[in-house]
Amino acid sequence: MNITVNETIHLYTTHSQLSFLLLESGHLCFAYLGNRMESSDLGYVVEELQRASYLADTDGRKDFKLEQLPLAYPGYGNPDMRSPAHQEIYADGSMVSDFRYVSHEYTTKKQPLKGLPYATAEMITCLTFKLRDEVTGNELHLSYTAYEAYDVFTQSVVFKNLSKTSIRLEEILSFHFDLLSDKFEMITLNGAWGRENNSNRRPLVQGTQGCDSKRGASGHGQNPFLAFVTPETTETSGQVIAATLLYSGNFKAAAEVDMHQNTRIQLGINPFNFSWKLGPNEVFQTPEAAFLSTEHGLNDMSQKFHRFFQECLIRSIHRDKARPILVNNWEATYFDFDKEKIYMLAREAKKIGAELFVLDDGWFGRREDDTSSLGDWFANEEKLKGSLAEFIEGIREMGLQFGLWIEPEMLSENSRLFEKHPDWVVKIPHRTPQKIRHQYVLDLTRKEVQDHLIQVLDALFSTHSIDYVKWDMNRNLTDIYSSTLSEDRQQEFSHRYILGLYRILEELTQKHTNILFESCAGGGGRFDGGMLFYTPQIWTSDDTDAVERVRIQKGTSLIYPPVTMGCHVSAVPNHQVGRTTSLETRTLIAQQGNFGYELDLLNVSAEEKELIAQQVACYKEERQLLQFGKQWRLPVYDESNESAWQKMNEAKDELVVVHIQFMAKANTVSKRLRLLDLEPDAVYQIGKEQRTGNELMKIGLMIPRATNDYFGTKWKLRKVVDNHANIKIDQYARRSGD
Ligand code: GLA
Repeated sequence: MNITVNETIHLYTTHSQLSFLLLESGHLCFAYLGNRMESSDLGYVVEELQRASYLADTDGRKDFKLEQLPLAYPGYGNPDMRSPAHQEIYADGSMVSDFRYVSHEYTTKKQPLKGLPYATAEMITCLTFKLRDEVTGNELHLSYTAYEAYDVFTQSVVFKNLSKTSIRLEEILSFHFDLLSDKFEMITLNGAWGRENNSNRRPLVQGTQGCDSKRGASGHGQNPFLAFVTPETTETSGQVIAATLLYSGNFKAAAEVDMHQNTRIQLGINPFNFSWKLGPNEVFQTPEAAFLSTEHGLNDMSQKFHRFFQECLIRSIHRDKARPILVNNWEATYFDFDKEKIYMLAREAKKIGAELFVLDDGWFGRREDDTSSLGDWFANEEKLKGSLAEFIEGIREMGLQFGLWIEPEMLSENSRLFEKHPDWVVKIPHRTPQKIRHQYVLDLTRKEVQDHLIQVLDALFSTHSIDYVKWDMNRNLTDIYSSTLSEDRQQEFSHRYILGLYRILEELTQKHTNILFESCAGGGGRFDGGMLFYTPQIWTSDDTDAVERVRIQKGTSLIYPPVTMGCHVSAVPNHQVGRTTSLETRTLIAQQGNFGYELDLLNVSAEEKELIAQQVACYKEERQLLQFGKQWRLPVYDESNESAWQKMNEAKDELVVVHIQFMAKANTVSKRLRLLDLEPDAVYQIGKEQRTGNELMKIGLMIPRATNDYFGTKWKLRKVVDNHANIKIDQYARRSGD
């Protein structure tokens, strides 16, 4: 094609590079995302492209086809006709814009995204492009940040209406990337309630594919995440490009393979039922997306995201602190408890060595089941036999911290709050609003509703000695409408809801920094980077079955750090699937994440309780490694029947390795489990044996034969010698000198 590139503009992390091309025409393209190369001029990436037929000319030039180029942030139809990154409806009803480069600047300071989650770090480089549409005067600011030590980038976009009329933003995505190939497989995280974050990998085909949410939350069935890998990519090698949206509401995550085998990757607020009226001089800020590339496979992708989430996104003062081992009463009692029963459980919790007791649903209003009282965040004094403060004091006197469950975004019809404010429910006038789990959603787009929740919860947290809060959300949003939004702003509802939620979370988490917040949405129905900005841990799934959890936790750990994943040991037969697994296996699997118990300790045999106490004591010794260690998913012989992971501490001298075999099999010969990324010449102690890193990586650990189904094995490794090779050489040198 007849294209002239004026400049190549680079953004670097320690090992990665993101390069843009500024065309003479003012269009901005991508040249490269991958390992750092240090080359400066990459103009040939587009200059050498051969022209395809039957595409619109650009700027009246037959030899300039915009639709073929890897465009940085394209609008619609001028003349690229693939899925746009942004769409506006202008005062005259037209939808076409033409944004071209005005300037760019580098800074080392990042502005917080107002009202939204955002990442930050000490060593960053921010690159902001200013683009302008000459006809309207409107501007787009594309902001990219490189997190030097993390090899991660973020992108967010600002739209400035500098025209004299209002416009409607119909779509404005956070992340957009064009690749000049379709030889990729796409990975998404899918599932349902109780089956969250199952990893789903398939080849790209021509057309649009991906996942999205229209549920008002990121949802159980899909996560705001996409990864693109080459067919040969594995956990340990191969190319990966991955992106995740730091947002908790409706999202779109899509890949479009066009007519010429190019792939367009997009992540952002779902354009479905979204439209934002932007008046003159008003500005719209998109949420932020994080993205990276690696040539070292999926483990490397996960480890990069884990460090990034932990160190650049999560702000809580609890982020780096050992997380308490908790006992939660939900699966032990459900709604059927009183003070005596809870105290009996708490005493058992103390005996096994737990540190935090969490009082789950059912402590407030007149809540005896799920039909009432959401909204009434004051104690059911009959049930608690006195005030909440007295109740908490009793728990504290046992030597335990205290945690409380709340579900602030919801309202029961049978509640005092509903009697007072029936109009606060999300509903469409003249239509009966739908209930899910007997409950309505509060209209968080309204400032007075946000203020009410901030005031009520602030009072609850300020006047009680609370160490931990589980912030739940047990239904998705239907009947999308707010009586306080004008007709032409109703499609702003879903995003405004999330902004309202973020304001409430911001106020409460910033004021009550001592409280460890764990979010939850019927399990992992809102497990996303948006929530992690406010709450450093999230309940991974309501399915607590150990076997099911292996798959759920494996998928979740694809991007989210294990310490953010709430994982508890529950009773057998398991309440969700009826399966019986051993206490050992349940414990190994729950200890992959943020560990606790969720079972009736009064109904556990003396021997099991003894074992639990030992497991808790052992966990305390290994906690730093298990919660904050680097994690690898280990390749296994038979993926369909096995799973294994390895965790290593920061000093790289301690490891825990876990292998789970689901079904026992007759007459099998044991296979070996090969470890990853050890120091080849170091010597590691495993029980009474010693092995070199090389041996452990090349030959591996012998997996014991499974003697029953759901068979778990754990190895603890300690590095005892740094460099075996040197010792051998020393010995040899000494001997030959003798
Ligand atoms: C949701 C949560 C559970 C529990 C119940 C209480 O389902 O995910 O852990 O808190 O609500 O109603």
